[in-house]
Amino acid sequence: MLKEDLDQNNIPKHVAVIMDGNGRWAEKHGKQRLEGHAQGAKAARQAVETAHKLGIQYITLYAFSMENWNRPESEVSGLMSLLTSSIACQFKDLIENNVRLLTIGDNTLLPENVRQEIEAVVKESEKNTGLTVIIALSYSGRYEIVQATKNLLKKYAEKPFDISQIDEKTFAENLYTAQIPDPELLIRTSGEFRISNFLLWQISYSELYFTEKLWPDFSEEDFINAVYDYQHRERRFGKTSRQINEKK
Ligand code: FPP
Repeated sequence: MLKEDLDQNNIPKHVAVIMDGNGRWAEKHGKQRLEGHAQGAKAARQAVETAHKLGIQYITLYAFSMENWNRPESEVSGLMSLLTSSIACQFKDLIENNVRLLTIGDNTLLPENVRQEIEAVVKESEKNTGLTVIIALSYSGRYEIVQATKNLLKKYAEKPFDISQIDEKTFAENLYTAQIPDPELLIRTSGEFRISNFLLWQISYSELYFTEKLWPDFSEEDFINAVYDYQHRERRFGKTSRQINEKK
């Protein structure tokens, strides 16, 4: 598939990606796991460029889950330096191209220098109006929902309000993704069919796309194939096929 094969009127606004398979890629090539992550960082950069090229407005990359803190210390610290250096270097020119960087997750758990470097790029790019790149870092979907509940309880304690007014919209305003539309498409690489605690609330109606490709091998063409596949799904949101077709 090529970009030209896509329906320009049906480009997803937001694509979320579980970038899986760096470790297996390294093993397959007889390399250290961190080399797999380094190749993964290159693939992440390419995915951001493809998203920009296709006119996608938001891309969320699952870079480090809260559960990933349990990996061996050397892998965690290697990933932290890779993330900081990738973000600090690669984002320099992306920012010049109007890209905005956001992060979601519990950044209080990040080493101080990593947090500061990332926050500096977030601040520097905050006024940019092009593609928004959201990096999920120290992220857990369940934790996010618990935090949102705590936020609401705190607001209630400060100034009691009518609890019956809490609905999905007001609840979602307390998630990390308050200002971000839900992803229409979620891609997971490496042949695993799991969500792994990613964006649990936000993917209620996302189309899920799984590919065998290991993340470092995920190319522009693979991304286009995923969007093409998405464009050929029927999104019914609980309605019948007939209802959807009558509306067209
Ligand atoms: C999953 O592969 C990948 C990760 C835990 C890390 C993802 C990080 C990157 C792609 C690098 C930097 C990203 C950005 C946004 C600059 P895995 O290690 O679980 O692979 P395996 O399942 O084959 O072992």
